[in-house]
Amino acid sequence: MTARILDGKALAQTIQEEIARAARELKEKHNITPGLATILVGDDPASHIYVKNKGRACEKVGFFSKSIILPQITSQQYLTELIGELNANPAIHGILVQLPLPQHIDENSIINAVHPEKDVDGFHPVNLGKMVLGREDYFLPCTPFGIQMLLARSGIETQGRHVVIVGRSNTVGKPTAIILMQKAAGADATVTVCHSRTKDLPAIIRQGDIVIAAIGRAEFIKADMVKPGAVVIDVGINRIEDFTKKSGYTIVGDVEFEKVKEVASAITPVPGGIGPMTIAMLLFNTLKAAKKTII
Ligand code: GUN
Repeated sequence: MTARILDGKALAQTIQEEIARAARELKEKHNITPGLATILVGDDPASHIYVKNKGRACEKVGFFSKSIILPQITSQQYLTELIGELNANPAIHGILVQLPLPQHIDENSIINAVHPEKDVDGFHPVNLGKMVLGREDYFLPCTPFGIQMLLARSGIETQGRHVVIVGRSNTVGKPTAIILMQKAAGADATVTVCHSRTKDLPAIIRQGDIVIAAIGRAEFIKADMVKPGAVVIDVGINRIEDFTKKSGYTIVGDVEFEKVKEVASAITPVPGGIGPMTIAMLLFNTLKAAKKTII
């Protein structure tokens, strides 16, 4: 049996249509156009592609988007002041600073500089704290939120199921664990988080009814690590050399897709799985931020 392919691209498209409708309504009733500012520092090629995709997605749903691209040598002070200006700009409802930042910039201090009510990435400690408490007046980090949304809207039950997350990053592993263990609809799971120091990792992954791979290692999850019938969510985006391609590389996930799809009951592809869902949730958060300004 081969797995059902969970088409994140198609679902993200549907969600974006819903967001576009809501944005039109916000404009008609309240004369508000949601606005997102993205800041990119340096010349990491992957980050440039991500930021361009985010700007394009904003335009598609009728948001205002402002893309700020800064050189690698940008100082921490300049970046902090820029964020301060965007915090004060009423046309901007969401601010996204693309990570990673150059080494000379203190990432934590930049994340802290974004006003929590404009932190559509959900990375500010205030939003992360509210997430842990299960409050709803905050922004969920986009990738974990996208994972939850994809599961829910694909009809995959999480309640009482064992979710095994491979990877403990602040952006994916940790927040996904918190979100899926909440006492809430679309959650209520039993969650295990594994990482590079976990003993007998394959044995634990094999216990997962739902496996979420977020380790950043190309095709790390093999078919014999997955319980037959499990749902596999691949968050990885890894570039590997491929000279048959004009670009010289190909993108693969953290899961050996071709083999694992023969074992799993459902699986997300890379690209076209969680990536587009992340962008859809960024738009969702930006719309939510804009709605909060209605007086
Ligand atoms: N770098 C990789 N993923 C992300 C993301 O979701 N948000 C930001 N700001 N940077 C990233």
